[in-house]
Amino acid sequence: MRRASLEWNRRVRRVGFVPTMGALHRGHVSLIERARRENDVVVASIFVNPVQFGPTEDYAKYPRPLAKDAALCRKAGVDVLFLPSAKEMYPPEHDTWVTVERTSGPLCGEFRPGHFRGVATVVLKLFNLVQPTRAYFGLKDYQQVRVVQRMAADLNLPVKIVPCPTVREADGLALSSRNAYLSPDERRAAARVPAALRAAEQVIKSSSGVSVERVRAAAKAELVRIPGAKVQYIEVVDPETLAPLRRVRGEALVALAVYVGKTRLIDNIVVKRRT
Ligand code: PAJ
Repeated sequence: MRRASLEWNRRVRRVGFVPTMGALHRGHVSLIERARRENDVVVASIFVNPVQFGPTEDYAKYPRPLAKDAALCRKAGVDVLFLPSAKEMYPPEHDTWVTVERTSGPLCGEFRPGHFRGVATVVLKLFNLVQPTRAYFGLKDYQQVRVVQRMAADLNLPVKIVPCPTVREADGLALSSRNAYLSPDERRAAARVPAALRAAEQVIKSSSGVSVERVRAAAKAELVRIPGAKVQYIEVVDPETLAPLRRVRGEALVALAVYVGKTRLIDNIVVKRRT
């Protein structure tokens, strides 16, 4: 990987990079296609990054359909598919971590301690290996985009972070590798997750200065109609800083995490009020 990136740099090629954990779907493909349009060389990586999973999370059972993923990458125009092993990424002596402190604190950070440290560390390692001109990240993982942008700015990384819109199913459910865990009944009910965000959006747009409690209640009313759902959080925060809001006047990020059965789903929406 290093040899190839040195060679591209020597020839002043624009390198677009899409880091993933595999089990690729149309969301990933949209990132790859954008990278294809905007660069000379497209690199994708598939690496199920052990250090971003908690001890009780799904690292072992995370889907790894490698042959299918490789075919999708080829079809979408990937030039190099980078597949490092956990052994070479984290040899026993590995001892350096990247912590993006404030940005990693709220939302998922509160419930997945160490998760964003694992993400920031692996993304920096991958950037150093691939040396991309641009790197593409989905807004489905909104906080992850903010963490990576903060890291790139704070550490003066010579890479442009490109946030990309969330790709959804016809019923609004955001595509996710983890949707594969849902039973058919759970999958049907999961359409209430994006519906909860739309309900929150409506409340925000209904009047200026609406209280966050009212926004939350509207989203929650939808989520509790999913049989066996457990809401982990529904937050309404400043989209730039992720700091909590009390009332919504300008822009707001509504972000939520909910367990549908054993599957944890996250989704978010940025609502812009016309003032
Ligand atoms: P993964 O979940 O495989 O996602 C890889 C990229 O695809 C991320 O940038 C994610 O936001 C984006 N993505 C996922 N679902 C999407 C959707 N429905 N629409 C648009 N983009 C979507 O995120 C990770 O892997 C890892 O944390 C990683 C960044 C690779 C570090 O290990």
